[in-house]
Amino acid sequence: MSANPLDNKAQAWSALFSEPMSELVKRYTASVGFDQRLWRADIQGSLAHAEMLAAQAIIAAQDLADIRRGMAQITEEIESGRFEWKLELEDVHLNIEARLTQLVGDAGKRLHTGRSRNDQVATDVRLWLRAEVDGLAALLVEMQRALVGLAARHAETVMPGFTHLQVAQPVSFAHHLLAYVEMFARDAERLADLRKRLNRLPLGAAALAGTSYPLDRARVARTLGFDGLCANSLDAVSDRDFALEFASFASICMVHVSRLSEEIVLWMSQNFGFIDLADRYCTGSSIMPQKRNPDVAELARGKTGRVVGHLMGLLTLMKGQPLAYNKDNQEDKEPLFDAVDTLRDTLRIMAEMVGGITVKAEAMERAALRGYATATDLADYLVKKGLPFRDAHEVVAHAVKSAMQQGLDLSQLPLATLQGFHSAIGPDVFELLSLRGSLDARDVIGGTAPVQVRAQIEAHRMRLG
Ligand code: ARG
Repeated sequence: MSANPLDNKAQAWSALFSEPMSELVKRYTASVGFDQRLWRADIQGSLAHAEMLAAQAIIAAQDLADIRRGMAQITEEIESGRFEWKLELEDVHLNIEARLTQLVGDAGKRLHTGRSRNDQVATDVRLWLRAEVDGLAALLVEMQRALVGLAARHAETVMPGFTHLQVAQPVSFAHHLLAYVEMFARDAERLADLRKRLNRLPLGAAALAGTSYPLDRARVARTLGFDGLCANSLDAVSDRDFALEFASFASICMVHVSRLSEEIVLWMSQNFGFIDLADRYCTGSSIMPQKRNPDVAELARGKTGRVVGHLMGLLTLMKGQPLAYNKDNQEDKEPLFDAVDTLRDTLRIMAEMVGGITVKAEAMERAALRGYATATDLADYLVKKGLPFRDAHEVVAHAVKSAMQQGLDLSQLPLATLQGFHSAIGPDVFELLSLRGSLDARDVIGGTAPVQVRAQIEAHRMRLG
């Protein structure tokens, strides 16, 4: 066995170099500190490549056997924490390849035939992200299930619906929760859609132009479960729009989580008092003994900033790069990793926390009554009696003003008083001035009537399985 050229990396890249890399440059350019988490994808990709090389008689069957044996040992070393990651070997790819050659000799040096780290890293990141995407898809289902499960108990629980955070019209708590289910369902669609473009194989592009070896790219794609090939070698090694798409998806999803978090914080505050969270999701104060803080929701809201920041970072990373590969691309990993980690942990914990929400139905109802939430219903009533809507709007404004002055709800005004505002008002008005009457009246697809909301819950349950 001849010497392992990768062992010389500590001194210089190749015979071409007359002095070693400076220590500072070594640290500055190395990525092994963070890209080692791609190791499993790297080995998976290398094995698929080696099998294809052997099938195409580019390497010998014995080489393939040696490579498999070496990779099995490396897998074992990494899993058990015994693998020695070396900074001078720069990244996960060179670390694994160097160890392979150490273990199996020349076969290890043949692995890189017809391949470059450029198409290798693009393949690794796609493989790694694909597995994470599938995990996140499952978590999005969990999140939706938790919301639907809570909603199923509250199709009749009335709360004030807000616009401008002012009481607007009564809605059911279930209806409010189902709005978030819609958001997360669209997030899941976005994720499934980006997966299609993510799941194409760059390997075979080599450094940038393709390779002169008779590679069978389709075979590698099949082995690795890719749906297709990147069709242009320059694009294959240099584009990271799958990462941009992922970060946009993640940002949008975190924005949805953040809005829900903000509402949880509000609902749990003493001024709203709509819900309570299980103790295990709250923290206390070191100075104020009475405090129970919704820290998880606040942090989820806060962590949205870093994910949106990663999207900005990745977009900026790409914007000035000429074709094809540039070392800039090494900077795609940390934002991508952190976006995945943050979203995964956030969805997991939010789904759990939502499942543990206690609803204070009386407080919600009281708040709805306080804000003249049924004023629109009175206007609609007058319209049905023949008034133009603008006139009805004006009549009700006078009624609300008078009720406010007396500190009463519209439904508490005597019939005679109401009739003073308009003679068309009859005793049947009280039914729809009630919160329940107001909900029932919104019996349109997508509306808050309990019968509609129940149908939605059923539809979501069917979809989510
Ligand atoms: N660590 C590098 C990255 O993450 C691998 C590819 C390096 N290719 C190169 N020609 N320097 O992008």
